Amino acid sequence: MSVIFDQSNGQYSLHTKNYSYIMQEKEGFLLHLYWGKKIFGDCSYMFREQGRAAFSPRMENCDGFILDDIPLEYPCWGRADMRTPALEITNPDGSVIVDLRVVGRRIEKGKQGIKGLPAVYTENESECETLVVEMLDSVSNIAVELYYCVLEDYDIITRYTKIINKGDSEVRIDAAASAAVDFDHIKFDVISNFGTHCRERNIERAPLTHGRYIMSSRRGASSHVHNPFLILTSPTADEVSGDAYGFVLVYSGNFTAEIAATQFDSARAVIGLNPDSFCWTLGAGEEFTTPECVMSYSGEGLDTLSYNFSRVFRERLARGKYRDVRRPVLLNSWEACYFGFDSERLIKIGDSCAELGIELMVIDDGWFGKRNNDNCSLGDWYVNEEKMPGGIKRISDHLNAKGVKLGIWFEPEMISPDSDLYRAHPDWCLHYDNRPRSEGRYQLILDLTRQDVCDYIYESVAKVLREGGISYVKWDFNRNMSEAGAMLLGKDRQREVDFRYYLGLYSVLERLNEEFPDVLFESCSGGGGRFDAGMLYYMPQVWTSDNSDAIERLRIQYGTSLVYPMSAMSAHVSASPNHQTAHVTPFDTRFTVALTGSFGYELDPTALSSEEQQKVRETAELYKEYGEMLAKGRYHRLRDPHNEPCSAWCTVSEDKSVCVAGYVLTHVRLYGNNERVQLRGLDPDAIYKERFTGATYRGDQLMNFGLHAPTTLEFHSILWILEKID
Ligand code: DGJ
Repeated sequence: MSVIFDQSNGQYSLHTKNYSYIMQEKEGFLLHLYWGKKIFGDCSYMFREQGRAAFSPRMENCDGFILDDIPLEYPCWGRADMRTPALEITNPDGSVIVDLRVVGRRIEKGKQGIKGLPAVYTENESECETLVVEMLDSVSNIAVELYYCVLEDYDIITRYTKIINKGDSEVRIDAAASAAVDFDHIKFDVISNFGTHCRERNIERAPLTHGRYIMSSRRGASSHVHNPFLILTSPTADEVSGDAYGFVLVYSGNFTAEIAATQFDSARAVIGLNPDSFCWTLGAGEEFTTPECVMSYSGEGLDTLSYNFSRVFRERLARGKYRDVRRPVLLNSWEACYFGFDSERLIKIGDSCAELGIELMVIDDGWFGKRNNDNCSLGDWYVNEEKMPGGIKRISDHLNAKGVKLGIWFEPEMISPDSDLYRAHPDWCLHYDNRPRSEGRYQLILDLTRQDVCDYIYESVAKVLREGGISYVKWDFNRNMSEAGAMLLGKDRQREVDFRYYLGLYSVLERLNEEFPDVLFESCSGGGGRFDAGMLYYMPQVWTSDNSDAIERLRIQYGTSLVYPMSAMSAHVSASPNHQTAHVTPFDTRFTVALTGSFGYELDPTALSSEEQQKVRETAELYKEYGEMLAKGRYHRLRDPHNEPCSAWCTVSEDKSVCVAGYVLTHVRLYGNNERVQLRGLDPDAIYKERFTGATYRGDQLMNFGLHAPTTLEFHSILWILEKID
C-alpha cells in the first residue's frame, strides 16, 4: 500500500519505492512533516512548534498555532500565514480570506485524468494510489480537494488541487497553485533552467538565500526563458550523491515556480499557474482544477532524479503509437532550403533521402497560401499551387513509392495580418478593441478561448491530414503573447485568457490525436519555447532549439535532460559551417551529439559530397540500430559542458547489455591532461566489447578508470558503443 492514513494520530504516509512523504492533521490543519528517504512509524514527534511569534499573530485568542511558522501542505492567504500562499480567494463580501480545515479524505485505487488538461496517466489501477484530502472554509463554503497520486514504482507523486464553490455567490480565485511544500531548513541549492531563443535551458545553480527566488513566465507560453520546473538539492549534492527534490508542472502557459527562505530559516516551494497573470471567477456550484505538478525525490543525487522524471514522462505522459517505438530518421527542409523550394526541389531532396536511408522528409514552413517569406499567409492552410503544382499529394505519392514518408509544418495558432483568414476575421486574434496589436514575426495569435477559432484550427489541420500521405506534423508557435485580450469574454474575465487559451489548445490537440493516431506530432516554438510536460502529453517530441549547432546543443541537451527524456529532444545533424553560429564541426561530432535524441538531418543532402552522403547513409543505419535502446535506456550526464571544456554522457540499456557513450572536446588546451571518461550504470562484472575498435573492457574498469578521451582537436568527439559479450 502506498497511501496509509492512521486514524489514531492523523498521519498520512505516502510511500514510493525509495522515499516517503508524510503529513499530519492537527487542529484541522494539514501539516507537512517529512519528505525524504523511506521511513515508517509514528512521525508525530517531527512537528515542532517553536512559538516564534516575531510579530506574527497566533490563531484564535493566542491559543492556537502561529500559522506563519508551521509547515502547511496547502497554505492559504488571509489568516496569519504571511508567506507565499498556494491559494488566494476574494469572497463575495470583498474579504480576501481562505481558511481551510480538513473535513474528510478518500483513498482511491488508480489515477483519474484531469478534465481538459494534460496529466500523467496509468495503464492499470495497480500502478497508482490516490489520496484526496477534503478541506473546507466553513465561512465561505469554499471546498478544496488536494490530490496526491502515488506512482510507487516510478518514485513519483503528482499533485493537483480542485476548488469547489459550495457557496451561493461567485468568488474570484486570485491564486491557485498546484502544489506547495514547506521544508524546515534552507540548506539548499536551487537548480533551474534559464535561456532565450537559440540558447534554451542552460542550468543555473545557486545557494538558496533569504527572499523569494522565482522562475516564471507571463509570455503566454512556458517560454525559452525559464522552464516550468524547480529542483532543490542539498548543497553538496552532485550527480550521484545527496538529496534532490524536483517539481515539474504539466502546463504550457504562464507559470510560477518559487522557493522562498523565510525569517525562521525554513523554506517554502510553490509551483503552479502564475498569479501575476491569472484570476478566475468561480460561480456558485462551479469547480476549478489546477494543472498537475509532478514531484520526485532522490537520495542519490541528480542522476536518479532525472531518471525518475524522464521515465514517467516517456512512459506515462507521452502517449500514442510512437511512445515506445524508435522514431523515424527524418530530414527537415528548413535549413536545407528555408522558403526557397518548389516541388521539383523537394522531389530531388526526397529522392536523395530514399538513396541515403532517410525514412521521412519534412516540408517545413512555406508550402501554403502565398508564403515565400515570413510576413504572410499564416491561417491560410491550403497549398501554394504556384510553388507546388499537384499539391502535397504529388510529393507524398512520389516519396511514398520510394519508401519515404512525408511530414509537414504548421503554425496553426497564428494568423498573419496579410492572410485571407485575417481579411475575413480580423477579430479572431487575441486583442483589445481599443489598442494597437503588436506583431511578432509579422504575426498575431489566434484567440483560442473561442470555440469557433478552435474548430477552424482543428479543421484546417485535419483537412490536410485527411487527404492522406502525411505521417508527421511539426506544430510551431513563433511569438509570445501581448495585448492578449479575448473580446468575447467579459471585461472581468481577461485574466482568465492564458488558462482558457491552453484549455482551447489542449482540446484541439486531443481531437487531432484521436482522429490521427498514426501521425507523429512534434512540438516546436522557435525551437524550445514550449518544451514542457504539457505539450509532451500530445506530442512525444519537441524541436529542442533553433540552434542546431552541435557544440551549442551540448549545453541545451544537458540542461533539458534534468527533467525531460532524451526521446523528447529532436536533434538533427545540420550543415557545417553551422547556419546560426558559423562553427565548423566534423560530421562525426554532429552525429554523436544528435544521436542521443530523436534523430534526423537539417541540411540539403543533394549539396553533400559523396563522402558526406556515405556518412549520412552509415549514421542513419546506426540510429536505426540503436535508436530504440537510446530512447528507452537510462541516460547519464558524465561531464558538464557549462563548467568543463568538454561534454560527455552515456545511455545504458535497461538490462545493462548495451552502452552508447559520447564525448566532445569543446575547448582545446595545449598539453591537455590525461582526459578519461568514467561511465556509469554498467554491470561491473560483465565484459563489454567496443564496436569500432574491437577492444574489450570489464564494466568495473569502464566505470572506475574509464576510457581515454581525445584532448588535441577542438570540437572533435568520440562515440563508443559497448556491447556485453560475457
Ligand atoms: C521556427 C522553427 O523552430 C524552425 O525550425 C522553422 O520551422 C521555422 N520556425 C519556420 O518558420
